[in-house]
Amino acid sequence: MKIIEMQNTYINKIKQINKNGKYAVLTMGCQLNENDSEKIAGMLEASGYTKTDDLSQANVIVFNTCCVRENAEDRLFGKLGEVKKYKENNGAIIAIGGCMMQEKHIVNKLKQSYPFVDIVFGPHTMQDFPKDLYNSLVENKKIEDILDIDGNIIEGMPIVRNDSIKASVAIMNGCNNFCTYCIVPYVRGRERSRAPQDIYDECLDLAKKGYKEITLLGQNVNSYLVSEMKQLDENSFEDKKQKDNETSNVELNQEIINLKVKKENSEEVEVNSFAKLLRLINTIDGIERIRFISPHPKDFTDDVIEAIRDCDKVCNLIHLPLQSGSTNVLKAMNRKYTKEQYLNLVEKIKSKIPNVQFSTDIIVGFPGETEEDFEDTLDVVKKVRYEQIFMFIYSRRVGTVADKMENQIDEKIKHERFNRLKSLAEKIIEEGNKKYVGTVQKVLVEGKSKTNDKIYTGRTETNKVVNFEGNNDLIGKVIPLKIISEHMWYLKGKLF
Ligand code: 5AD
Ligand code: SF4
Repeated sequence: MKIIEMQNTYINKIKQINKNGKYAVLTMGCQLNENDSEKIAGMLEASGYTKTDDLSQANVIVFNTCCVRENAEDRLFGKLGEVKKYKENNGAIIAIGGCMMQEKHIVNKLKQSYPFVDIVFGPHTMQDFPKDLYNSLVENKKIEDILDIDGNIIEGMPIVRNDSIKASVAIMNGCNNFCTYCIVPYVRGRERSRAPQDIYDECLDLAKKGYKEITLLGQNVNSYLVSEMKQLDENSFEDKKQKDNETSNVELNQEIINLKVKKENSEEVEVNSFAKLLRLINTIDGIERIRFISPHPKDFTDDVIEAIRDCDKVCNLIHLPLQSGSTNVLKAMNRKYTKEQYLNLVEKIKSKIPNVQFSTDIIVGFPGETEEDFEDTLDVVKKVRYEQIFMFIYSRRVGTVADKMENQIDEKIKHERFNRLKSLAEKIIEEGNKKYVGTVQKVLVEGKSKTNDKIYTGRTETNKVVNFEGNNDLIGKVIPLKIISEHMWYLKGKLF
C-alpha cells in the first residue's frame, strides 16, 4: 500500500474513535522543524483533532524536538516534567518526534526516566504518526517508531500552516557536509531533493491561497539536486553500457527523479539546479517574495548569484553562514573555505547584486579557538556589516568529530567571547539601521502589533521589522513606507 493511502487508513480509523479531541504541538527547533510540525498538525486535524494552546486541555501532546545544541535538549526535559501531570490527570497521549529521537542515548534516557511517554518517532517515520497514534490509543502500549536509514521525502502529506501570508517549503532534506560540530548529518541523513514539479505545485497552491512570501528550506539549499544529478550521471553511464547490450535503462533514470516541470500555462521547463528552481518559482503570479535558508558558502555558484540578481522576487538579503572567521578554525570545522574565500565571495556577490545585504550564523568557542582566531571572526563581522547575526556558543554533540577533540574551550571563555561578539553585532546592526532613515522601503505588512492596536507591522526585503500607523486593508500587501526613525530591533515607518 502506498504510504499516503496507509496514512489515510489510520487517519480514518482514528476519526471513528476520536470524540472532539484536542491537540498541541510544541516545536523546539529550526524552520524545517516548524515545517514538519505543520505536517504533524495536518495529520492530527485530518484525524478530527482541533488545536489548543492550553496543554491541560490537550488529549494529544506532541513534542517536535531538535538536537543541534544542548539547550534544545534541556528544554525538552524541562517541559516533559511539566506535562507529566496532564498524563496523570487526563490521560493525554504524550508523543515525541523530531531529530533528537534519532539519538540512541536520548531514547534510552526517555525510556528510563520518563516512562509516561507513549510514542517516540523520528523524522524518517513522521508520515506513520497516525498509525502510531492509533495503535497507542487502542492498545494502550508504548510505541517506538524510529528508522536508522534515511527516509524518503513523502509527498501529499496534509499540512496546517501557522501563517496565512508567509510559508516555508522544504526543497530537500539531509546534509552531506559533515561540519565537525554538527549533528544534522547523523540525524537527518544524506541529502535528498524533492522533485521540482512537487515544489512548483506546492508554491503555486500557496500563491492561489493568497500567500505572498515563500522561504525555500534545506540544510544546504545550493546543493539542491546535486546528489540526484550525480546519480543520473552514473546511471546514464550504466545506461550506455547497457544500451551496448541492447537493453535500455532510461525508464529507471526517469524514476530516480524527473527534472521536467509542467507549468500552469502548460509550458515545460527543465530544472536541474537551485538557480533554475529560483528562476522557476520567480514566475509564479501572486508570490511577491522568495527567501531561502541556508546556503553553504562553498557551494555558492555564479548561476545562483545571477539568479538572485535577475529574479525580482528573490530578496536581496542573503543568509551566508560564516560559523568562524578564522581559517584555522574553519579547517577544523571542515567548512572547506578560508576567511579570504568567504570575504571574496561576499565581495563578488556585492559586485553583482546591487544593495545586497547579508545575515549569518556564528559559533564561538569551537575547540582550539584562540583569542587570535576569535578576533578573525570579529574582523569578518566588521567587514561584512551583517544585517542580522545568529550567534551560538559551541555545544558538544555526542557522535560528532569535534566532540572528541581534546582542546575544548573553557565555558567562561566561551561566554566571555559570546558577549564580546554580541556587543559588536549590536553596534553594527544599530549603525546599519541608520542607512534606512529617510529611504522608502517596500514592506510586506504582516498584521497588527501585539502591544498597540493602531500600529501595524511588516518587514522589509532585508527582513527588518517596520512598525507604522496603518489599517487592516494593508495586511498581506507589499507597500512603500517612508522610514522615519531607527531603533535596535525595528524601524519606524510612515505611509505617504
Ligand atoms: N554548537 C553550536 N552551534 C551549532 N550550530 C550547529 N551545530 C552547533 C553546535 N554543535 C549552529 C550553526 C548552524 C546553526 C543552525 O546552528 O551555526 O548554522
Ligand atoms: Fe550542519 Fe554543516 Fe550540514 Fe549545516 S551544512 S546542517 S552546519 S553539517
